[in-house]
Amino acid sequence: MPYRTIIEPFRIHSVQAIDLPDAEEREEALRQAGFNLFGLHADHVIIDLLTDSGTGAMSSEQWAGMMRGDESYAGSRSFYRFESIVKDITQMTQVIPTHQGRAAERILFSVMVDEGDVVPNNTHFDTTRANVEYRGAEARDLVVPEGRDPAIDLPFKGNMDIDALRATIEEVGRDRVPLVMVTVTNNSGGGQPVSLQNLRDVRAVCDEYEIPLFLDACRFAENAWFIKLREPGHEHRTPAEIAREMFSLADGCTMSAKKDGLANIGGFLALNDDEIAARCRNLLILTEGFPTYGGMAGYDLEAVAQGLAEVLDENYLRYRIRSTAYLGEKVAAAGVPIVQPPGGHAIYLDAKALLPHIPPHEYPAQSLAVELYRNGGVRGVEIGTVMFGRPSPDGGPDEPAAMELVRLAIPRRTYTQSHIDYVAEVVIDVASRAESLRGLRMVEQAPWLRHFTARFEPL
Ligand code: F0G
Repeated sequence: MPYRTIIEPFRIHSVQAIDLPDAEEREEALRQAGFNLFGLHADHVIIDLLTDSGTGAMSSEQWAGMMRGDESYAGSRSFYRFESIVKDITQMTQVIPTHQGRAAERILFSVMVDEGDVVPNNTHFDTTRANVEYRGAEARDLVVPEGRDPAIDLPFKGNMDIDALRATIEEVGRDRVPLVMVTVTNNSGGGQPVSLQNLRDVRAVCDEYEIPLFLDACRFAENAWFIKLREPGHEHRTPAEIAREMFSLADGCTMSAKKDGLANIGGFLALNDDEIAARCRNLLILTEGFPTYGGMAGYDLEAVAQGLAEVLDENYLRYRIRSTAYLGEKVAAAGVPIVQPPGGHAIYLDAKALLPHIPPHEYPAQSLAVELYRNGGVRGVEIGTVMFGRPSPDGGPDEPAAMELVRLAIPRRTYTQSHIDYVAEVVIDVASRAESLRGLRMVEQAPWLRHFTARFEPL
């Protein structure tokens, strides 16, 4: 067959207008937001790549499901539909709905993690790290060394470093490691996938020390597709078969349905341990809601159930992963340094490589993110020293993060190829003037998750 463009496997059914603020309006918006893109009014953003979380377009079947939502407080029909698809994909016996991923994390860690514990993960996402630390425990990132090298092009840079996992358990003792987590795909490490073999190896270590293994499963379908594409022996399997095998290796999972649930809100905690599940449900009732809705409306349960039924479709996943790679290839071909290979949900620009003249404590990735907005109204997010660095205890420069990245996360089924072409033009234009960019000074910060509310001044 001749080469054909991989097209969006859907037609647009309903649209939302984008305002096109001019350069002056963008400059004023930046000033008002304290040079923190979380502070922008979304109307001032032209292409919003802040996150792929809850920002996707729902299908007509999801909207139809919402009309069928059963709003019964207890025992809603919509819950049983939701529970049945979650059980079908995860094969786990206990399904606990939550309003989003971090609620599942908070409940799970409240039950399983104590002060002084250590939780290993390939790389904790910011809310996961914060929820572990909020329990007085240590969140330890044990991704393979190549996962910290943006330029190296390898198929599974999200893998857990098995030797480091074993060394951590030996060092702190198995009683202080209440669970091991693996994030699929590895969001903070470039949206890189984890191989099935690596999950099997982590499972073997967990079995040896009798420690439960949980998946942070937000992007499980994208991870399954990467396994199909890249891991020998899986090319003929369906994404659903691969996803089931991924889940079969774990004892439980936390899930934000705002990603691969293709929904605007929702999440769950699923696990096999009845006793832990009962304790989680007690907390759920305290803060989220009754166990058959857990903070979601009946119509949200329907949207997530239908989203989970759609996300493992091969045409969707082929388009999804290909369209992200398209942006990565375009900017990389113009010489812009990115985390290689392109991730599933996002392209990560390597600000450390692009802006070597800006030191980490002057936030090179924040400076790059601000400039992308200033230049073209494109909003990405800093994943660097603002998000993961630490203020120094003696008032000196921040302890830097391992990488200085700007993530351009692509909402699911939302933007077309010409939107993405525009983004590439903005990135390439800003990169061509890299040496003119200056750093920022942080003038306000919160004690945790400071990146959401910090304010900056240009240097
Ligand atoms: N785990 C991972 C790997 C995530 O990427 C996120 C959210 C969460 C947990 C928490 O889920 O937002 O539903 O509470 N990530 C979003 C992002 C916010 O932009 O990457 P949540």
